[in-house]
Amino acid sequence: MKKVILDVDTGIDDALAIAYAVNSKDSELVGITTSFGNTSVDEATRNTLQLLELLGREDIPVCPGAEKPLFRPPLKEKAAFIHGDDGMGNHSLPLPKAKPSEKHSVEFIIEMIHKHPNEITLVFVASLANLALAVMKDPSIVEKVERVVIMGGAATVPGNATPAAEANIYADPEAAEYVFRSGLPVTMVGLDVTMQTLLPWEQLEVWRQKKTPLGDFMAHIVEFYINAYRNMYPNIKGCALHDPLAIGAVINPGFIKTKPMHIQVDCDGIHSVGRTIADLRSIPANPPNVDVALEVDADGFLKHFLSVVV
Ligand code: RIB
Ligand code: CA
Repeated sequence: MKKVILDVDTGIDDALAIAYAVNSKDSELVGITTSFGNTSVDEATRNTLQLLELLGREDIPVCPGAEKPLFRPPLKEKAAFIHGDDGMGNHSLPLPKAKPSEKHSVEFIIEMIHKHPNEITLVFVASLANLALAVMKDPSIVEKVERVVIMGGAATVPGNATPAAEANIYADPEAAEYVFRSGLPVTMVGLDVTMQTLLPWEQLEVWRQKKTPLGDFMAHIVEFYINAYRNMYPNIKGCALHDPLAIGAVINPGFIKTKPMHIQVDCDGIHSVGRTIADLRSIPANPPNVDVALEVDADGFLKHFLSVVV
C-alpha cells in the first residue's frame, strides 16, 4: 500500500480528493499539508480538519504550510466563485474539534521522507510552494521520494486561471519551475487529462439518496462547484475532477498514459506567466524532466472514484 502525503488548498475538488484518498484501501494517507490557493492557508487547514472530522479520521495530521508565493505577491485572489466564500461551497459544518499540527508542512514533509525513504508519494493538488521550500531546506529528500504526482499545468491545452496558465502553477510559478528543475520524479496530471474526467450532475441525487451526512455534504459542495462550471463552460457535462484524478493516478497508474517531456514554467511572460511550456518538437532541446499525462481512462477512473469516495 502506497504511503501518501497530500498537499491541498481545500477547495471543493480538494475535498473530493481527500475523501477519495481517505476512503481508498489502496493508499495510506499519512498526513495532509496545506497552503494558499483556492482559499487562504488558514481556511484550507480549517476546511481539511472539518472534512476529516466528517470522515471520522481526525487521527490524520494536518500541517499548515505556505501562506503566499515564494518570491512574489499573489497573482490571484482566492477562488470564491468556484469554491464558495469559505472554500467549500458555503456549507454548515461545525468548526473542527481537532487542532492543526504544530509542525509546518515543510518540516513534516522532510521528516516523513527521511522516516520512510523511497516509500512516500507526494501528491500536490495546490501550488508547489511547500515542496519547493522543502527541497530548498533539505535537498537530500530529492533522492528519497518515491514519486511526486501533481495536479497542475497544461501541456497541450489552454489554461484555466488565464488563457495560458493552469491555476496551481499560476499560484506560484517560481515554485513550480524550481520543482521541475529539482530532479524530483514528477508526474504531471494537468488540464490535458483532468478536463476529461467530469462528474455528472445526476450524481448529486445519488449521493442525496444515501441519506448520510457525508452523502449530503458531498452533494451540497459539488452542487456549488457544478454551477460554477456551468457558468465557466456553458456546454460542459459536469464538473472537472482535477484533484481526485491525481489521487486516482497514484491508486491505479493505469488510469493515465504519460509521456516524458521537458517542461519549463514561464515566470516572466507578460501574458503567459505560469504557463507550462512543453517542448513538443520532435527533437527537444533538453532531456525530459516530467512525465506528462496526455491520455486518461475517464470512464474507468470515474467508476472507481464513485465506488470509493462516499
Ligand atoms: O486548476 C485546477 C486546480 O486549481 C485544482 O487543484 C483546484 O482545486 C485549484 O486549486
Ligand atoms: Ca486544489
